[in-house]
Amino acid sequence: MTLLFCSGIDNAGLWRDALRRRLPDVTLRVWPEVGDPDDIDMALVWQPPPGIFAGLPNLRLVMSLGAGVETLLADPSLPDVPLVRMVADSLSDDMAGFVALQVLRWHRHSDEFDAAQAAGVWRWLPYRPAREVTIGLLGLGELGQAAAAVLGALGYRVLGWSRSPKHLNGVECFAGPDGLEAMLPRCDQLVCLLPLTADTRGILDRRLFARLPAGAVLINAGRGDHLVEADLLDALDCGRLGGASLDVFSEEPLPAGHPFWRHPRIRVSPHSAAATHPAQAVEQVAATLAAFRDGRPLANRVDRGRGY
Ligand code: NAP
Ligand code: GLV
Repeated sequence: MTLLFCSGIDNAGLWRDALRRRLPDVTLRVWPEVGDPDDIDMALVWQPPPGIFAGLPNLRLVMSLGAGVETLLADPSLPDVPLVRMVADSLSDDMAGFVALQVLRWHRHSDEFDAAQAAGVWRWLPYRPAREVTIGLLGLGELGQAAAAVLGALGYRVLGWSRSPKHLNGVECFAGPDGLEAMLPRCDQLVCLLPLTADTRGILDRRLFARLPAGAVLINAGRGDHLVEADLLDALDCGRLGGASLDVFSEEPLPAGHPFWRHPRIRVSPHSAAATHPAQAVEQVAATLAAFRDGRPLANRVDRGRGY
């Protein structure tokens, strides 16, 4: 087996060490040093150069270093072979921590206290008990369920929305378009952890914001293209929304001069909510390769029809 690793942002050195240690019998090539492209039968990639797969005629398996695979699915050179996305406990833990951090930041006046400290002012502000604050999650998959568990442990009321109906401990579950309509008016904060698909692109728009309670907070850690940026700016400027934490953007890095950078009610983070850590994630790669070699069903295989 010969595996091609290709990522512009992951640490290739750390991955090389982790893969060599965990999978000593796999021959490793690191982009752009492909060697003979005919040798490559597996690829482990994050946002590879478009068209990359056209030059790899013997690929039998593609693994994504990320959970979201919309960029890979949009590449016409992606061959019709199994595509497996990243699912790892560490990724879920990171996302749950990010969501909790943002929820607490808005609920517990963290930014106001930072500003008061900067001004040398002792300023107490009232806040509701967590059990009276409702958090809605768009997406109840690997990451949504991890976030729900942590928010529940912090005492928040948790609602969640998915495509197919679910029954989860501690989460009031909604599904489908009617479920979304019913959930939104109850959400003090709304967290997007959806995959980017034809159905979810632009879902965070003026119409959705109008269904939320006035002053609600938006947290987007899904993808930038879930959000209609101009609608968010309008909703914040007229007070319909109270604030937004944004980790993902239509254009990344967020361009200099973009209005999000300096908006007083927007908090920007650089697509850092959840990372794929090589030492943990290599275990999923190893499990996928073992199953592939043995002809067993592959876990976390992307359903191309669904788009995630
Ligand atoms: P997942 O396990 O596939 O879960 C996706 C969830 O979204 C599922 O509950 C699914 O419903 C729901 N969903 C999909 N389409 C829907 C629709 N049209 N209507 C309602 N619900 C819909 O994915 P995941 O591992 O949790 O990851 C989610 C996303 O997080 C990724 O795709 C990626 O975009 C993003 N992400 C961001 C970061 C970051 O650092 N910011 C890191 C990792 C991932 P069903 O359960 O019914 O299928
Ligand atoms: C990161 O955004 C991922 O999809 O894993």
